[in-house]
Amino acid sequence: MGLTQGFGARTTASVLPASARRAAGRSAMGGVGLLKRLGPLEAAFETRVCEALVASEKWLQDAIGSAPDPRVAELTGHIGAAGGKRLRPLLVLLGAEFGEPWREGTIQAGAVAELVHLASLYHDDVMDAAATRHGVASAHARWGERAAVFGGDWLLARAAQLAADLGPEIVRLNAETAGRLVSGQLRELTGPAPGEDPVDHYFQVVAGKTAALLAMALAVGGVQAGAPAEHVAALTEYGEHLGAAFQVADDLLDLRSPAELTGKEQGKDLLAGVPSLPVLLAVAGEGPRDAELRARLAAGPSADPAEHLGTLELLAASRAAEETEALMHARLDRARLALARLPRRPARDALDALCDYVAVRTA
Ligand code: FPP
Ligand code: MG
Repeated sequence: MGLTQGFGARTTASVLPASARRAAGRSAMGGVGLLKRLGPLEAAFETRVCEALVASEKWLQDAIGSAPDPRVAELTGHIGAAGGKRLRPLLVLLGAEFGEPWREGTIQAGAVAELVHLASLYHDDVMDAAATRHGVASAHARWGERAAVFGGDWLLARAAQLAADLGPEIVRLNAETAGRLVSGQLRELTGPAPGEDPVDHYFQVVAGKTAALLAMALAVGGVQAGAPAEHVAALTEYGEHLGAAFQVADDLLDLRSPAELTGKEQGKDLLAGVPSLPVLLAVAGEGPRDAELRARLAAGPSADPAEHLGTLELLAASRAAEETEALMHARLDRARLALARLPRRPARDALDALCDYVAVRTA
């Protein structure tokens, strides 16, 4: 696709399909909806965090649409306007609850974390050749790969700019996290080193590409609100484990959750030959139960839709999928242990409930 294809076309909600318009509506309330799923919550806490989420969303939308050229703003605003759970801004605001959440900059910090996330999605969709994200066409499907990569770069630059307004500690956390995201993705690209256990390698990848940003979001919130260092450390550790569990859950969702719920094609990891945790465990497995599955995985992704669906069903019902679920729960248990080092507050209860949410989420 040419670089200019898609530019200049109107991409406002009015010309988007109904599914995309619904997704855009969800985006403003994404974090609020997620927070409400963590309840029942103390009323004053819920109101405070909801208001902060709405304000943070405003910072985000202003940032993603702020390119002076409206055609560039269409590109950079595309995925952020289409929806999302806004998990990262929520984590920033929950982290801030262990300090003085009303301090200046906590709301902008929520936008910083989501900008980094959005930037990574632009790049990730290019890497995965994903056709859709949040129920709309991926940026590269619409504007081409080079434009999508630059769109992601632009969002990352915007995150750095907002972080600079918040001070050197936030700049450092932001830069370190972006580096870990890229390293995680590069490790995924290079695959395990000779002799390296593929499951160990998988968790190294996950620590970089997913856990780093969730941990950073919690830390940024704590730091910006002036939380004590030991609380920031506990929040960071919680975020690392939650993030690992979140990515493992994402692998399971790829198997089990239909596209209408996730906004991504079901089974896209399998089709793309991505070594997700269930696939790695199935390949390493022994015994008759998953023998047919192992043979199909050894043959590689199938272009025949019926065959692909058959493999997906076998994988979803496999012992490997059960083991994947057990590993996810183990990381959630470790996240809860880190939480126990924090003082009892409504935010701690919400973070505890988030562990349950990760285990049962369908989108
Ligand atoms: C989604 O994982 C992808 C990520 C969580 C991070 C991707 C990171 C990069 C592409 C590095 C570049 C980073 C920056 C900051 C520009 P997935 O593919 O397993 O999940 P999906 O099903 O949502 O695509
Ligand atoms: Mg992906």
